[in-house]
Amino acid sequence: MHSPSHWPARLAMLTGLAAAAMPATAQDALRARSLAATCANCHGTTGQAVGDMKSLAGMPAGKLLAMVEDFKSGAQPATVMHQIAKGYTAEQLELIAGHFAAQQPKP
Ligand code: HEC
Repeated sequence: MHSPSHWPARLAMLTGLAAAAMPATAQDALRARSLAATCANCHGTTGQAVGDMKSLAGMPAGKLLAMVEDFKSGAQPATVMHQIAKGYTAEQLELIAGHFAAQQPKP
């Protein structure tokens, strides 16, 4: 059975297997989506934050990257983002930024 609610978990499991057989762009889109999912706990599913949390959906990729770089370097003080930012390579962050830039911003 295809249950939509299981889709993200299945996607994460299948990513590794499927990646080898797919063209580079489709591969990157999948990787971007699973990487971006690690931000969703705090920033909301598909980047649309709940309550006071900052939304990432629709944020231009360059802006998101610049902010995350500032967290990484310590230029922008943070409670948690300076730690989180250090957990990703520049290439991973670019994929994440591209993913959120393509999402519909919060109305
Ligand atoms: C544990 C919760 C948590 C996770 C996971 C998380 N963030 Fe954050 N994020 C925060 C908090 C809290 C802030 C506010 C700054 C601070 O205090 O660290 C923030 C701020 C930001 C900002 C600045 C937004 C603005 O408009 O000021 C960006 C950009 C950002 N996060 C990107 C990301 C990305 C990309 C990921 C995934 C790689 C991510 N965050 C994962 C909690 C989180």
